[in-house]
Amino acid sequence: MKKILITGATGNIGLTLIKYIDKIKLDNKIIAGLRDLNDKERFSQYSDIDFVLFDFEKEATFDNALKDIDRVFLLRPPHISDIDKYFKPLFDKFKEYKINDIVFLSVQGAEISKVIPHNKIERLIKEYQFNYIFIRPSYFMQNLTTTLLNGIKEKNEIVLPSGNAKFNWVDVENISEVCAILLIEFDKYLNKSFEITGYENLSYPDVVKLMNKSLKHNIKYISMNPISFYFYKRREGLSSGFAIVMLILHFLPRFQDEPKISRFYEELTNKKPSSINEFINREKNKWE
Ligand SMILES: NC(=O)c1ccc[n+]([C@@H]2O[C@H](COP(=O)([O-])OP(=O)(O)OC[C@H]3O[C@@H](n4cnc5c(N)ncnc54)[C@H](OP(=O)(O)O)[C@@H]3O)[C@@H](O)[C@H]2O)c1
Repeated sequence: MKKILITGATGNIGLTLIKYIDKIKLDNKIIAGLRDLNDKERFSQYSDIDFVLFDFEKEATFDNALKDIDRVFLLRPPHISDIDKYFKPLFDKFKEYKINDIVFLSVQGAEISKVIPHNKIERLIKEYQFNYIFIRPSYFMQNLTTTLLNGIKEKNEIVLPSGNAKFNWVDVENISEVCAILLIEFDKYLNKSFEITGYENLSYPDVVKLMNKSLKHNIKYISMNPISFYFYKRREGLSSGFAIVMLILHFLPRFQDEPKISRFYEELTNKKPSSINEFINREKNKWE
């Protein structure tokens, strides 16, 4: 039996990952790492999960959280960009507790772009000589129901510096299903990296058009220049670091080739990944 620590358990990926892993876990044990143990209640439908206090930013939580763990699902919380400061002490603890197996939620293109923190984490995982699987998803469809939700609901608008850049849209459900399978069948996929994408490369104007076909009222897309966008987000209360991450994520694709499409989800599950239309129809109540 393996004890598997899930970091980011309350996030987009974590919550759906636990749903999938609970179905196929065999005799493995899931331990959800939480920074607030009151969040346990969000997992009340599962009978067989343990919980542990775990905070990337509080080293004092590491010993208790890691002492019985064999394998870790690791993500980088979006606001953490100082990798040496937060991940090196954590990896030292992994070594101390003989934790060697890591499934890391990275991002498509992480191997190329040295400026993104995921690149640094991937390199660090290799330097520490852990057994690893890197999962590199494209652009989450769920950005429309999380980061962009308030703008859509309150102002009927999406404001980004993306112009007509094309993104590959992938459903968090599909990513989490892959993560669950690879966590359980870790040895079969050892030391490999997998891109997880949908089959559609679409721009924001394309996606807003599709949303407007399904929604009762129209939303509009405003493409803002990068400097105005940064200050717009700061005025909304976003931290400087997070505003910069959003800026890079949405502005750089204007100058890049269209994202590559991966067939890995279908190869692994024998199912097609979700289309953006399926996602819109499934989630449209959230915007209305
Ligand atoms: N959005 C995209 O299009 C996209 C595409 C590819 C890759 N990614 C990558 O996916 C990752 C984010 O995944 P997600 O969307 O599932 O995350 P998310 O929904 O933003 O949730 C973040 C999770 O991290 C936890 N967390 C935050 N700070 C923490 C801390 N100090 N210690 C312990 N846990 C902490 C949060 O817990 P609380 O509930 O306590 O806050 C939450 O569970 C990022 O690395 C991002 O770069 C995103």
